[in-house]
Parts: sequence; structure tokens; C-alpha cells
Amino acid sequence: MTKKLPDGFLWGGATADFQYEGGFNEGGRGILSHDYETDGSQDNPRHHTLKTADGSIISPKSSFILADDVPEDAQPVFLDDQYYPSHKAVDFYHHYKEDIKLMAGMGFNVFRFSVCWSRIFPNGEEEQPNAEGLKFYDDVINEMAKYNMEPLITICHDEMPMNLALKYNGWTSRKVIDAYVKYAKTLFEHFGDRCRYWLTFNEINAVRGFGPTGVRKATGQDRYQADHNMFVASAKAVQLGHKLVPGSQFGTMYAMSEVYPATCKPEDMFHHLQEHRENWYFIDIMGRGYYPSYARELWNRHDVKDIKMDPEDKETLMKGQLDFIAFSYYRSNTTKAGDDWFNVGGNKNPYLKETPWGWPVDPLGLRYCMNEIYDRIQKPLFIVENGMGAIDKADKNDYVEDDYRIDYLQDHLSAMADAINIDKVPCLGYTMWAPIDLVSLSTGEMKKRYGFIYVDMDDKGNGSLKRTPKKSYNWMKHIIETNGAAL
Ligand code: BG6
Repeated sequence: MTKKLPDGFLWGGATADFQYEGGFNEGGRGILSHDYETDGSQDNPRHHTLKTADGSIISPKSSFILADDVPEDAQPVFLDDQYYPSHKAVDFYHHYKEDIKLMAGMGFNVFRFSVCWSRIFPNGEEEQPNAEGLKFYDDVINEMAKYNMEPLITICHDEMPMNLALKYNGWTSRKVIDAYVKYAKTLFEHFGDRCRYWLTFNEINAVRGFGPTGVRKATGQDRYQADHNMFVASAKAVQLGHKLVPGSQFGTMYAMSEVYPATCKPEDMFHHLQEHRENWYFIDIMGRGYYPSYARELWNRHDVKDIKMDPEDKETLMKGQLDFIAFSYYRSNTTKAGDDWFNVGGNKNPYLKETPWGWPVDPLGLRYCMNEIYDRIQKPLFIVENGMGAIDKADKNDYVEDDYRIDYLQDHLSAMADAINIDKVPCLGYTMWAPIDLVSLSTGEMKKRYGFIYVDMDDKGNGSLKRTPKKSYNWMKHIIETNGAAL
């Protein structure tokens, strides 16, 4: 069966501002919830740096949840002896023309990036947006237009202005819904003439920590309250976007790590069904517009007593349903009875190889979940992240022979083409994470590289930042030129 994709298929790459953009204290940008996260590695987790009321410095693991013993009064602080990767990232802020040209050289017709919320509203609550911040993204979008590359804008990629996090305990407060809707409206009014595809949030089912949600202890009650408020914020933004930007289409991005039962033992199968619902909860509510019948059982499981909802929320969710389902896919997982919920990566799958970071490589899992989502929601899909973090060895000219990345993409793109061509799953496009090397979200290091383009920078931010295409760059160019036929 041919791997050639339907005409109009969107090919591109995906990035996130605090991992890519930098320009932390330029252009009036405010402080973001991620700005206090240190670098780390697989063995040494990232930390937040905080100061308690009595002046002591503490640095709890950032991972996904601020530890229970972090005092309520602890405030973020920057320490001179720490490296904070979001501040410089890989400096797209000053390299955007060069980077966009390189991406255009591969034939990208779409580029997914996130707008940095605190670049537009530095503390989240100003009356007027920051004009310099809007101008930066104007320049980016206009530069892309020169190459016929359209934007796919993530309105909020796992982040918020620090002021909103501290003042309101992040998304637990409905005040943040208002701040988000005002921010989204500004983006629609300002960029809507040049952008038709929007994502209201990134990996909404996976964001559970202080960095992404601004919630100090985003577990149980607080987590599910925050999620509800995000559902309402997204639905309001979708309705507003449809009104202000004719023809616009909206998704929210889900982390789809396909979960398999570890065995066919009935207890493992049932646990797998319940674990699946941990994720379907998000897609069901936002894709179908209402809370599913299993929600109550799921809340009980997480000790959630009562989610505060306004009377009009039901109608808002129904009217603000998503137009397409966007998702990231990197790996699959297995689960068995007795495992903790969200035990991502807790079990080995004996049938799969793993990346150096222990992520199982499962191309067929991509085809599996494309079918699964479409069977359930019946809306077009958009694969907005997929890729392989690897340790690249550059030669003296900074050239990398990344055959392993080519193999990974060859297998995953073939599986995607089969889902589209054989299984008839509609899919708008594919944006690979991340076309240019950038800072890893989970470990904060540069060593975990994804790009088609090498960036000369190490884990502590040293290097010339020079961009050099890898072997996979020309390979991908050919795949895009043939619209998949060369796979
Ligand atoms: C997704 C995120 O979870 O995975 C990205 O949307 C992230 O922000 C990507 O970078 C890959 O994860 P990591 O930890 O390897 O950077």
C-alpha cells in the first residue's frame, strides 16, 4: 500500500517557548512558572529553587508535583550558582529568521510554536498586552509567511505567568480562566488573520505540576478542580475563536502514551481499562463536550470530594467542543493490577527496544492509538509531537549521522501513513518534536536531542548556538517532497 499522503497534508515541526525561545529578560517578558526550574539529568531530577519565610533556601524536585514538605509560604528565588535553562533556551528569540529558513529548507508548510503567556501579559493581569511581545510573534509569523509556512499556535504550553501561580494557586482558581480568556482573545484579535489552527493547551492530561499548572500540590481535589477550570477556559476560548477568527479550528493536545495490559489476566485487563480512563477523561470531556459516566468513579479513586462548577459550565463545555484531536506520541507503556495510576514507564515491555532514556520504541502503537481515538471521538486527528531523544555525536564540523533517528521516523511515519491510507483515519498533519535541538522538558538537558538540526550548546548553556543540519535533515526533506511516497 502506498505511503503517499492526501494532498494538503501538513508537514512540520513543533516547539515550546520555554524550551526553545529564551529572551527571558528581553522585550518586556514577565516571569513564567518554569523560570525557577534548574537543569537536571536522568539521574539528577530538575529542582525548583525557593526561599522560606525564615530565609532558608530549599530546592524540592520539580518532577511533576511539589513535594508535600514544601512550606506554603516558600517563594521562588533565583540562585547565582544554578543554571535555569528557560532563560536562554536555544535562543530562538534572536535566531528565528535563521531557524525558519532552515525549517523551510526541509519543505515545512506548518510550524507549531507556543506563545509565551508572560511575554504578552507579563503578570497575567495587566489591562493591556505587551506590544513588544506581540511584535515578536508578528515578526515570527510574517517570516514564516515568506516561505508559505502556516502557524499552529499553542496558546498555553504547560506554563503560566508566575504571578497567577502564586496569587491564585494557579488553575484551581476561576480567576485564571478569566486571565486565560483575555490572553486568548488578544491572540485571536492580533494573529487571527494569519493563523487558522490553534491548540488551547499542551498535554492537558499529563500536566500535574507547579510549572505547568501553577498549582502547588496538583494532586487529588486540587488537580481535578484545576482540570475542570482548564476545560472551561478551553471551551470559552474555542467559542470566542470561532467567532473572532472565521474558519479557525481548535484542538487541545493530549499525551498519548498508548497503555497495553501487561498480561491477559482479567485483573490486569480491568486495571488497564481504568488506567485508560485516566486519559480518556480528558479527550471525552473536551472532544464530546460533557463529563463521562465513569467520572464519579475516577474522582473517588483520587479522593476528589467535590468539583466546583458554575451552572453555565455544562453548556460552555458542550458549545466549546474541539474541532480536531491533537496528540503527542513518543512511546507505549504497560500496566498491571496494583500499579499506581499514571505509572508511565513503570514496567518494561519485553517486545520493545528502548531509547537511552528508557522510552520504549513502538511505531505500531502510533497506528493503534490513531485508530482508537478516531473510533471513539470521530474527529480529525493532528499528530503534533513525535520524535526520538538521542545522544548525538557531532563531528568537528558539527555534523551528526543520526541514522537511528531516521529509522525511528521511517517506522513511525509509515505507521501513520497506514492508519491514514489503510484504516482511513483522517489526519490533518504531522509536526515532529522538535525540528531543532532544544532543552528537554523532563530533564532540562541539551544532551537529549531530537532535532533535524544540531545546535552547538551543552547542558549548562555553553556553546556557539550554531545551527547545523544533521543527516536526517535531507532525509526528511525528501519524505516531505514526495508527500510520504518515499517512506
Ligand atoms: C512532551 C512535551 O511531553 O514531550 C514537550 O509537550 C517535551 O514539551 C516532549 O519536550 C519531549 O519530552 P522531553 O522530556 O524528552 O523533552
